[in-house]
Amino acid sequence: MNEKYENIEKWLNYQESPWAKMSYELTEHVLRKHIKGSHLSVLDIGGGNGQESLWLAKEGANVTILDISQNMLNDAHKKYEENGLEDNILTSKVDLSKGFNLNKKYDIIFIHNLFSYLDNVDQLLQQAHYHLATNGILSIMHINRYSEIFPPMIFENDLDKAYEKIDAKRTKIDLFEDTEVYRYIADEMIKKLEKYNFDKIEKYGIMSMCHLIKDNEIKFDKEYYEKLKKLELRLMQEYPYYEIARFNQIIARKKLVEINVS
Ligand SMILES: C[S@@+](CC[C@H](N)C(=O)[O-])C[C@H]1O[C@@H](n2cnc3c(N)ncnc32)[C@H](O)[C@@H]1O
Repeated sequence: MNEKYENIEKWLNYQESPWAKMSYELTEHVLRKHIKGSHLSVLDIGGGNGQESLWLAKEGANVTILDISQNMLNDAHKKYEENGLEDNILTSKVDLSKGFNLNKKYDIIFIHNLFSYLDNVDQLLQQAHYHLATNGILSIMHINRYSEIFPPMIFENDLDKAYEKIDAKRTKIDLFEDTEVYRYIADEMIKKLEKYNFDKIEKYGIMSMCHLIKDNEIKFDKEYYEKLKKLELRLMQEYPYYEIARFNQIIARKKLVEINVS
C-alpha cells in the first residue's frame, strides 16, 4: 500500500484555511440544489477524512468512505464521533487504483479531489455508475487545468512557468510528499460521463475568484470572506467565470434505461 498519504499534517493545515472552508461551503451549496430526501446513503470515494460528507451525516445520511490512507480514515471516525455520528460512518481502506466492488447501491456518490492522484478515471466512473441507485447522483470535483496558469503569474511573477502550464496535464505538488498529479478540464470529464451513461450533467465553478486574490491574509477577515462567498455563489454558473475557477464540480445523474414495451 502507498504510505505517502499517511502523512496528513499538510492536508489538515490546508483544511483550516479560509479557501478550503470556502470550497467546502460552495460544494455543499451545489449539492443542496440537487439532493432530495433524508436518510440517504452516501459513498465517498477517496473521501479522506470525511469533511465533504459530514454535513449530510448530520442530516441523517449513512456515509461510507473509501480511501487508501488509514490516518485519513481514523481522522474521519474521530470527526464523526465528536459530532455524535459514530453510527453514521463506515470506512474501508482501499487502493482505488485497482478499482473497487461493494455489494450495495448508493443514493449519492462523491469523487472529490481524487482523480489528480489516479490514472484509472474511466474504470472508477464505470464503477461509480454501477454503485449508484436509480436516480442516484454523482458529484465529481477536480482542480481545473485552466486555472493552473494563474499561481505562477500572480504569486511568482514567472511568465515562463505560466506559459508551460497552458498545456500541462501533469504537475508536481507537495501536499502528500512530492507527488506528480494529473490536471483535467471539466469538459474532458463531461465527455467521459456521457460515454458511461450519465445524464443531466451540470458544471459549476468552485472559487472563480478566490485563487486570483494575492492577499491571503484578507481572506481571514469575516466580513471580507462573506462578501467573497457572495461573489463566488453568483459566479459559479456564470460564463466565462466557471471556466477559470480553481475547481470544477460536476453533477450527473445515472441515466435511466428506457424499456421498450411493445
Ligand atoms: C486531496 S484528498 C481529498 C479528500 C476528500 N475527497 C476531500 O475532498 O476532502 C485526496 C485523497 O485521495 C486519497 N487517495 C490517493 N490515492 C489513492 C488511492 N490509490 N486509493 C485510495 N485513495 C487514494 C488520499 O489518501 C486522500 O485522502
